[in-house]
Amino acid sequence: MSMTSVSRRVSVIGVGYLGLTHAVCMADLGHDVLAIDVDSEKIARAAAGQAPFFEPGLEPLLRKHVDAGRLRFTSSFAEVAEFGEVHFLCVGTPQTPNGAADLSYLNAAAGALAPHLRSSCLIVGKSTVPVGTARALLARIQAAAPAGGAVDLAWNPEFLREGYAVQDSLAPDRFVFGTCTPSAQDTLRELYAKPLAAGIPALTMDLETAELVKVAANAFLATKISFINAMAEVCEAAGADVVRLAGALGHDERIGAKFLGPGLGFGGGCLPKDIRAFSATAAGLGVSSVPSLLGTVDAINTGRRERVVALAREAVGGSLAGKRTAVLGIAFKPNSDDIRDSPSLDICDRLRSEGALVTVHDPVAMANAARSRPDLRYAASVSEAAEGADLVLHLTEWADYRAIDPAALGQVVARRSIIDARCALDTTAWRNAGWTLRAPGRPEQVQL
Ligand SMILES: NC(=O)c1ccc[n+]([C@@H]2O[C@H](COP(=O)([O-])OP(=O)(O)OC[C@H]3O[C@@H](n4cnc5c(N)ncnc54)[C@H](O)[C@@H]3O)[C@@H](O)[C@H]2O)c1
Repeated sequence: MSMTSVSRRVSVIGVGYLGLTHAVCMADLGHDVLAIDVDSEKIARAAAGQAPFFEPGLEPLLRKHVDAGRLRFTSSFAEVAEFGEVHFLCVGTPQTPNGAADLSYLNAAAGALAPHLRSSCLIVGKSTVPVGTARALLARIQAAAPAGGAVDLAWNPEFLREGYAVQDSLAPDRFVFGTCTPSAQDTLRELYAKPLAAGIPALTMDLETAELVKVAANAFLATKISFINAMAEVCEAAGADVVRLAGALGHDERIGAKFLGPGLGFGGGCLPKDIRAFSATAAGLGVSSVPSLLGTVDAINTGRRERVVALAREAVGGSLAGKRTAVLGIAFKPNSDDIRDSPSLDICDRLRSEGALVTVHDPVAMANAARSRPDLRYAASVSEAAEGADLVLHLTEWADYRAIDPAALGQVVARRSIIDARCALDTTAWRNAGWTLRAPGRPEQVQL
């Protein structure tokens, strides 16, 4: 087992949130990196040292390695195949209309690369895929590649969180190496020699288990969020406070405080699609417990959106028609401009379908939102969004919003009424400033 730090020639296929971060981090670990994407605009921006999306800390590191010539970009699969000793597959695996994973991007990327593979190399999958994908992909690539059986494949799922992507890539809690051969394990240990030397564990296993680790981890995290949101429903019915309940539960080391934030539930490009794809895969394998469990998790999660709209309706006296609402936060979570399956955008749609006038603000996600919802009203500041509002909805818990002065904001609204859908604001401060604050799972009165 080699732990020597060796500079390798690495290609990264797909430069989205995962792939661009991975390419930059591979360069930062000392490897020579060539990255490719079918989106030529993304490639042009990245090659100019500009991150095509918002991710704290990514752009300076991208520029540094582009300037040093350690990280380059191309649109040619032939060049990638010629260059790389290791090829990382980082393309998207979105959901199909029936919830299963769409593997067409992965198959297209492998299909474009394979005919150019003339010598031995290692392909490493990082995308999130249904169990069984890797082994099938290996067989297809070996059949199409001139190098045939000299092409090896491993699965090294990625656990990064958007908003913390660079630190998570360089220093994850663990590496998962799904491999078929000892030499693939050695190559992965060389590639990640620096973080491994710093003590980050590498867990080695077969391809199928490695694929499952990723989807099982996301299923667990989604379940934890929906669990606390189910508790929020009970708290609301019983007059209890879910934030204090979650705080007390989180002190139990067997439970842990993370992913126990009640409120609006999860969204984004991973958890919703991953639990649906996992359900479809498990059902295909004849396992009914997983679709039953995750179907409930999904339904509880979607139900939170309707609950927040119901709170909004109640807050404005029963009907949202013609009411002016100010939405704070559009990104699916703070520190990201990602609006994929954003609970906030879903709520904007629901508010508008009931006739509300919706003005939105987000520190970084407005450009993405404007592309997908051009007819929403966008405000350059929180106070501009709240001007004359009958109701403010706090839907993404950016630190900026926790720093709002409720008394000052109270000067610009028509009515001091706010829904804290993320249960993240200082309820006492807002209520003391004369606001009516409602939050799912929390009592309406100030608690001692
Ligand atoms: N975003 C995350 O936080 C995260 C975390 C862990 C795992 N993942 C997984 O990583 C994978 C990628 O997710 P993402 O969020 O980066 O998606 P993304 O949509 O941001 O990026 C995917 C990229 O792949 C490119 N692409 C598509 N087909 C291609 C092809 N044939 N050849 C080359 N490039 C191609 C697209 O143009 C796009 O730039 C998914 O499987 C996802 O589940 C994502």
